[in-house]
Amino acid sequence: MKRTLGTCYYPEQWPQSMWESDAKKMVEAGISWVRIGEFSWGVIEPEPYHLNWQWLDKAIETLSAAGLKIILGTPTATPPRWMIDKHPQMLAKDAQGQTRKFGSRRHYCFSHQPYRLECARICTLMAERYAKHPNILAWQIDNEYSCHDTTLSYSEASLTAFIKWLKEKYQKIEVLNQRWGNVFWSMQYNNFEQIALPNSCVTEPNPSHLLDFQRFSSDQVVSFNRLQVDILRQHTSAPLIHNYMGRITDFDHFDVGNDLDIASWDSYPLGFLEDRSESSDTHKQLFSQQGDPDFQAFHHDLYRSVGNDRLWIMEQQPGPVNWAPYNPAPLPNMVRLWSWEAFAHGAETVCYFRWRQAPFAQEQMHAGLYYPDNSPAPGLADVQKISSELAELPDCDIAPASVAIVFDYNSQWAWQTQPQGTSFDYFTLVFSYYQALRSLGLSIDIISPQQQTLSAYKLVLIPGLMHFNDSLEQALEQFGGTVIAGPRSGSKTEDFTLNCQSIMPGINSRIKHVQSLRPQVKIPLNGGNNAQHWLETTSQNDPIIESTKDGRAIRIGQAKCQYLCAWLDQGALANLFTELCAQEKIPTIQLPEGVRIRDTQQHRFTFNYNAHTVTFNEMTLLPAAVNWQQR
Ligand code: GAL
Repeated sequence: MKRTLGTCYYPEQWPQSMWESDAKKMVEAGISWVRIGEFSWGVIEPEPYHLNWQWLDKAIETLSAAGLKIILGTPTATPPRWMIDKHPQMLAKDAQGQTRKFGSRRHYCFSHQPYRLECARICTLMAERYAKHPNILAWQIDNEYSCHDTTLSYSEASLTAFIKWLKEKYQKIEVLNQRWGNVFWSMQYNNFEQIALPNSCVTEPNPSHLLDFQRFSSDQVVSFNRLQVDILRQHTSAPLIHNYMGRITDFDHFDVGNDLDIASWDSYPLGFLEDRSESSDTHKQLFSQQGDPDFQAFHHDLYRSVGNDRLWIMEQQPGPVNWAPYNPAPLPNMVRLWSWEAFAHGAETVCYFRWRQAPFAQEQMHAGLYYPDNSPAPGLADVQKISSELAELPDCDIAPASVAIVFDYNSQWAWQTQPQGTSFDYFTLVFSYYQALRSLGLSIDIISPQQQTLSAYKLVLIPGLMHFNDSLEQALEQFGGTVIAGPRSGSKTEDFTLNCQSIMPGINSRIKHVQSLRPQVKIPLNGGNNAQHWLETTSQNDPIIESTKDGRAIRIGQAKCQYLCAWLDQGALANLFTELCAQEKIPTIQLPEGVRIRDTQQHRFTFNYNAHTVTFNEMTLLPAAVNWQQR
């Protein structure tokens, strides 16, 4: 498949006289896709039921005439101001009960039924008007669900919907009381209507209550999205897409992804390094103009899985952003590296956000491919270069990976609810496994816990999975490769109570007790390196494979099925994965810091995330270099 480039464009923010030359310049730069419309409700419908399509007709006509393919966004992330007058209760409430007001974006509660009807109405009108247009070749639904912390809402609408959800799940209040363990602290309910949202309690609410609220909130995102999916599908067979964000875990992306055709995400490597990474200051300093060498790849692999193998980058950072604590410019050639890395991980299209920097409003400090005065910004040269390279490069099809990591949103919610130690974070744990695997040159699949089979893989890692569901258990029973789970995997029931049985299929031990450790505490291992953050003591019904220097078991099981009783540091993880890969005859390679590899069916790509030249495998890699060799 040929890879393509795109850009995000806001015709409503520029005079019409510029549209034609913008479109022409996009094509000249090698761009074939343009995303429009996702924030334009206020222009389409300036007053209730007064629809103004002329500008959008004209924009679509102009972009199409230049030969561009259009991704049309439904504008439901930015309801106009009059909508709030019409539906004052549609605004979400934060955990303190404060209304999250109009004046920016994403100002709605997923559970508000009248707002959902408004979304269905505008979506239907757009579909009726544009779905048959030959250049509308994809649709984006809404924009970045959960961005700005918008999944959870403590509004009245949310409460009503939560009670309904609980009734459907438990049917009888006695069942809920029993499964939540409400006998504790006299928390029994007499009927579903007594249940409140789990905020503003005196001390921590029941964790089962919290987890169910999180699951409910995730389901609300799914059904909100599905409403628009169902409407669009009646009018078009064009692919339906949502643009997810980096390290947003408040809703189950696999569930949303199952209703869509393509998963896309918005990749802002420098913003994420400053804003969403727990890495040390030294690491941030080293990669401040490049981004974390694994963060983008992790999300490409995660969302490729969410999209059932169809991945796009809907927004790619082209220069400094405006929203992180520090906003440096990317290193020269870095935009090119990020784009090629996305292609190597299976992205079909990379779109740059945004075409031209806006001189007004919230994002006036955010770079585009053009400056506000319409002169080219540095990112444009990268785009032109990639487009000429794409013309020469035959294909980069996804190669099957031998290694998979299970990623589970429920586990994120569980450990967020009950970290037990400030440094226990599920995303960080999974990401540390991913980083260690990538430092060994491996290509990785990130998979959901709803697996029917694992037969595609030789090595499967299951860190921190709160609960093994039936299908994963069965898949594990039939799995012929090596599996390693833990720490904390299988430690809870589905209801978020302690699992007092054996941990998982193939492991006979139970967890006896756990300890969380202060960040400075390091427990030396026999093979060098350390355990940190977390240590478990098991009932020891399995052979010990590895222990700490002072004799505590940290790895138990058999060769092919192992359980880790501790959080290992990066060195220990790399040693462990080298050993397990050798057992499964998966070749590994020790990469220099900041150098990463990704195999496609046709090529081996090598990326240098460093700001200095690296010599490796007889290659001289300049800063931000991308190299590809036939496999
Ligand atoms: C994304 C969003 C865009 C824009 C961009 C700025 O989160 O989808 O609309 O705000 O960030 O980096």
